[in-house]
Amino acid sequence: MAQTVDRDQALLDPAEIMPRVLGRYSPLQVDHGKGIYVWDVNGDRYADFTSGIAVVNTGHCHPHVVEAIQDQAAKIIHAQANILAHSPMLRAATLLTETTPPNLNQVFWTNSGAEATEGAIKLAKVATGRPAIIAFKHGFHGRTHAAMAVTSSRAKVRGHYEPLIPSVYFAPFPYLFRSPYKGAPEDADLYYFAELEALFDHMVMPDDVAAMIVETVVGEGGYLFPTTRWLQKVRELCDQHGILLILDEVQSGMGRTGKMWAFEHFDVVPDIMTAAKGLASGMPVSAVVSDRKLMDTWAPGSHGGTYGGNAVGTAAAAATFEVMRDEDLPGNAARMGEILMQGLREIQADYPVIGDVRGLGLMVATEFVHPDGSPNPEAVKKVIASAFEQKTLLITCGTYDQGIRIVPPLVVNEEQIREFLDVYRRAVAAAS
Ligand SMILES: Cc1ncc(COP(=O)(O)O)c(C=O)c1O
Repeated sequence: MAQTVDRDQALLDPAEIMPRVLGRYSPLQVDHGKGIYVWDVNGDRYADFTSGIAVVNTGHCHPHVVEAIQDQAAKIIHAQANILAHSPMLRAATLLTETTPPNLNQVFWTNSGAEATEGAIKLAKVATGRPAIIAFKHGFHGRTHAAMAVTSSRAKVRGHYEPLIPSVYFAPFPYLFRSPYKGAPEDADLYYFAELEALFDHMVMPDDVAAMIVETVVGEGGYLFPTTRWLQKVRELCDQHGILLILDEVQSGMGRTGKMWAFEHFDVVPDIMTAAKGLASGMPVSAVVSDRKLMDTWAPGSHGGTYGGNAVGTAAAAATFEVMRDEDLPGNAARMGEILMQGLREIQADYPVIGDVRGLGLMVATEFVHPDGSPNPEAVKKVIASAFEQKTLLITCGTYDQGIRIVPPLVVNEEQIREFLDVYRRAVAAAS
C-alpha cells in the first residue's frame, strides 16, 4: 500500500517526473471534464476555452463518444491495419469522406498531426516524382523532421534540430494585420501572391516542386486568415505547374470554423488534406485524405505504421462524426462565433490594447499591441493570468505570443459565451 501512496505523491509534482520541455500553461491537475468544463483534483471547475488546443470539439467526454470508446475497448483494442480490417476504421473513413469533396475519397489513418504531415509530404513526393516543397511563413505542421522543415511559426520549434529535410522553400502567408505592403489594403493579398510567384524566378523551378503545403487558417502562428482570392490563386498556380496542394486542416477542420473543413469558406479543394485534433474528440487519431488515383501511387509497404487506424481511436472518430452531424456542431460554431466576435469587438472598442479581433466560427483570436502597434506579449500574459483567476483557461498564439486563442468546444452555448465575454472584459481591463 505504501507504494500506492508514493505514486500518488509523485503525481503531485509533474516537474519531477516529466521534462520541462513540455512547458505548461497552468498548474492544474485535472480530474475530469464534461462539455466545456474541466474539474481539478480539488473539485474546482474551469471553463476550457482551449479545447485542449482545438481538440475536444464535441466537448469533454461527450456521452456518445464515451460509449463508442467503452464498447469498442471491450471488443478489440488493437487490430493492426496491415493484418486486419475492422468496422470502426471503415465506418470512420466512410463518415469522413461523406464530409469531403469527391476527390478526397480515401483515408490513410495516422496518429498525430505531425504524422499526417509526414504522410502527406511522402505521398506528394511519390505521386509527382519531384523533390521540393513550398511552405508558408507562420505555418505550423508538427514536430517531426519533415514537419519541422515546413514549419516557420517560430524559430524555437525548428532551431537546434538542423539539418532538416532539404528543398523546402518559404513564401509569406497573408498576415493582413501586419502587412508590409504600402498600397491599398485590399490589394495586400496580391502582394503576398506575387512573393510566392517570385520563388519561381529566384529559388526553385516549378517542375521540381511536388507540393505546396498550406494551413487553410494558420493556427499556432497567429490565427491568420487568407483571402479567398489568395487561396484560389495558390490553387491555380499549383494546377498550372502540376504541383499538388496540401491543405493542413489539423486545427481548422472538424467544424471549428463554422464549416466542417475551413477550405469550404474559400471555395478551394486540395489534392491532399491532413486532419487530426478534433477528428476523434481527444483520441490520438489523424488522417491523410486524398484521391484514390494519387493514393494508388503509394506501393504497398512504402508507407505505414503500427497503430494507424486503431480500433478504439477510429470508433471515437466515427462517433465524433455522428455527433458533428446530429448536433450540427459546425452550425453552432458559426452562430456562437458571431456572438463571440461581436462581443470581442465591443471590448476592443474600449481597450486599444487589443489591436485586432479575427476569426471564423469558433476559431477566434485577439492580437494585443503596444500603443506603437508592436506585439504586446506582456498584456497577453496578464490577460491569461486574470482569466485563470476567474477559472477560465486560454492559450496564446503567434510568433511572439502576441495573440490569445479563443477556441471553446463547439458545444458551447450562448449563456456560456456571454459569461466568457464578461470574464474576458475584466481580464483585458486588468491588463490595460
Ligand atoms: C495546423 C497543425 N498541423 C499540425 C499540427 C501537429 O499536430 P500534432 O501535435 O498532433 O503532431 C498542429 C498542432 O498544433 C497544427 O496546429
